[in-house]
Formats: sequence, C-alpha cells, structure tokens
Amino acid sequence: MNDIAFDKQHIWHPYTSIIKPLPVYKVKKAKGCKLFLDNNKILIDGMSSWWCVIHGYNNDHINNALKQQINKVSHVMFGGLTHGPAIELTKKLINILPKGLEHIFFADSGSVSVEAAMKMALQYWQAKGKTKKKKFVTIKKGYHGDTIGAMSVCDPITGMHSLFKDVLIKNIFLSSPGCKFGQCSQKKDVEETEKVLKEKHGAIAAFILEPIVQGAGGMKIYSSEYLKNVRKLCTKYNVLLIADEIATGFGRTGKMFACDHAGISPDIMCIGKSLTGGYLTLAAVAVSKKVAHGVSRKDMPFMHGPTFMASPLACTAANASIELLEKNNWKKHVSDIEKTLIKELDECKSFKNVKDVRVIGALGVVQMKKNVDVADFQKQCVKRGVWIRPFMDLIYLMPPYVISKKELLTLTRALKDIIRLE
Ligand SMILES: Cc1ncc(COP(=O)(O)O)c(C=O)c1O
Repeated sequence: MNDIAFDKQHIWHPYTSIIKPLPVYKVKKAKGCKLFLDNNKILIDGMSSWWCVIHGYNNDHINNALKQQINKVSHVMFGGLTHGPAIELTKKLINILPKGLEHIFFADSGSVSVEAAMKMALQYWQAKGKTKKKKFVTIKKGYHGDTIGAMSVCDPITGMHSLFKDVLIKNIFLSSPGCKFGQCSQKKDVEETEKVLKEKHGAIAAFILEPIVQGAGGMKIYSSEYLKNVRKLCTKYNVLLIADEIATGFGRTGKMFACDHAGISPDIMCIGKSLTGGYLTLAAVAVSKKVAHGVSRKDMPFMHGPTFMASPLACTAANASIELLEKNNWKKHVSDIEKTLIKELDECKSFKNVKDVRVIGALGVVQMKKNVDVADFQKQCVKRGVWIRPFMDLIYLMPPYVISKKELLTLTRALKDIIRLE
C-alpha cells in the first residue's frame, strides 16, 4: 500500500468523512511560498496554511531561534515554573497589543483560547456576585473554533456546527453587520445591537466577535464604525467585549490587529495562528487589568491550565516571528499584496458565476453564486502549480506576506482561469 492509500484508509483529515475523504497531496518540503510535493510538483501557496505562515516556510531566522532553544529546553510545565521565552513574548505582546491589554494567559490552540476567554468572562461576573450574567452575544456568520464553548458562538448555519445545535449552550445571535468595510455603520445594525444589550444585559457576560473580518463563517468584511459602536455599547451596558483576533492578528488586514482599524481595545482578546509564524501551535488570551483583577478577586485562581501552555519552543518561534514582523516592513508587503489583489481580482466581478469580490490587506475573497466542488477545484489548482482551498461558495487567497509579485500573479491568474471553467 503506498503512503497516500495508507493515509486515505487510516488518517482522519479536517472536515472529512473517513469513508469518502477528500483527496490529499503529500508535501515533502516547503520553502518561502513554495510547497514541494512528493510527486515533484511545486505549488505556490495561497493559503499561508490557514492564516499562519506569514513569513513563508522554512524561515532561517525562526529555524535558528528554534535550534538554539531546543538545546536548552523544549518543554517544561508552566505550573510553578516559568522561562525566558514566555517572559520575552509577554513583553513583546504587551508592546504591540491594543492599549490596556496587559495580562497574558497562554493556551495551546485558538479554540482553547476562546474557551479560556469565555470562562474568564463567566468567572469575572461570578466574582462580582452577578451570577445571572451567563450568556454570550455574537454576530451571525462568525467562527470561533471547534470545541463545545466556541461552537456555541459560531454561526448556527455557516459556522460548521449545525449538527450539534441541540447540545450547545443557547447564546444570542445578532445579524451580521450589513455595512461593508469603509462604509459608515448602518443604523439598523447598531439599533439591533443596542436593543438586545439594553433588554438582556443582566443575563449577558460578554459580546464575542471577530473584528472587521469574519473568517471561516463567511469571509465577510464589515465596517470599523460598527466595531466602534459595539465597543461603546458594551461599555454602556456593562458587557465585556471579547475580540477574537486568532485569524486577523499580526498584520493580515493591514493593521497589526483588526481592532486597530476602529482604534478600540477589547476587554479580552484571543490571538493564535500566525503568532508563531505558523511554526508551532500556540495561542494566548490577552486581558485588561480590570478583567484580570476582577477574575482573581478574593484570590480566586483562574480555573484553566493546558498541559502545553506557553511551550518554550512555541514561545521562541513567536518571539522570532514578531522580530521578523518588526524588521521586515510587513505593512509595505501587506499593502503591496492588497493593491495587486484589488487589481487582479476586480475582473472576477464581470464573471457570470461570481457573486462578490472583497479584499482587505493580504486577503482576497471571491464569492461564487454556487458552492465550489473542493476536490475538483484543488485538482485544477495542482495542475496549474498553485495551492488554494475553497470552502462553501468562497474561494480566497491569503498568501504569506513575503510572496513575490510574480508568485502572486501566478495565484490570481490560476484562480481566474479555474473560475472561468466553473
Ligand atoms: C477566528 C477564529 N477563531 C478561532 C479559531 C480556532 O483556532 P484553532 O483552529 O487554532 O483551534 C479559528 C480557526 O480557524 C478562527 O479563524
């Protein structure tokens, strides 16, 4: 049995059935923006391995930092022990995070950081004696992860978890904001938000949302004005604001964090994915002093502690990745990618099968009128030497920031060629 046949029979890949899985392609190595397949095909990566690999693969600076750290200590428990990489990373994060987020709780994946953030909000109100504040408000078309708590705030239909709707905590869903990025907040969106917060704030612990870009729940890009209003309303009605920046953090939308488009600071922020430049799994919950001290009232411990939290290797990769961001003028790279995406994808608006085209920073989305056949689309991609993975009716590009113009044009042109055939 060859490797692909073995894989097909025994390994469960994300969002697939074990009986009839989607095809997989075997990668033997990767460098920069190129994936080298076992069959000697070379693919230009348009996905950054799901928002993560912002500096490209096999980066010398991150490799060297990890090699040095591996000779010191790879992993050590965080209960009762600490280490240099975590301390250095915390200093670096406090320096770049929106103002006021000054306490860091490390987690081992994005979903787990969302669970921890939700638990913090609940524990905050419990410590204040407001035990009825137990619900979460969110906007439709959101995605926050695959664990039970996170699923309860994902869009009930597009958020991939409709199978579990009967077992999830019933939270409150507002309409996804109708106003596009760059437009003023629609009155209707703000009024609906205010009405719910006004009527139900006594039962609401926190408002959780992905700032500016809603990712895996629909790839929508909404107005920074709406986000500003959400911040104001949460303060007015005594509801905590959790910003899920797991996908948007570290420059993807053209600002270091998407909250920076609105100039707001949430009470709690989740970060992950590109935190380590896509090298190792690490996430973090950044918390304001008000919430951190509120949770810890009367010396209450925060009841969470993943085994691999703040792994020294993962923190080392994160430190090296942030150093690269500081050194490499990421803003210019992201802005150049944005200009090319706007110019190149604009043509898709004239295609009969395309519903919408949206671009922000180093993210370009083409929404089709019908769902895309993923297996067939990827076969066409591999034939053309590119790697793109659509979902539902959405085909999107989010390349590493270091992509060359030539590589980016290969991606956009392959995408358009395939769409023309659809
Ligand atoms: C906005 C957002 N939140 C949470 C998650 C979950 O992160 P992880 O896959 O690391 O658990 C994702 C993953 O796609 C995400 O995009």
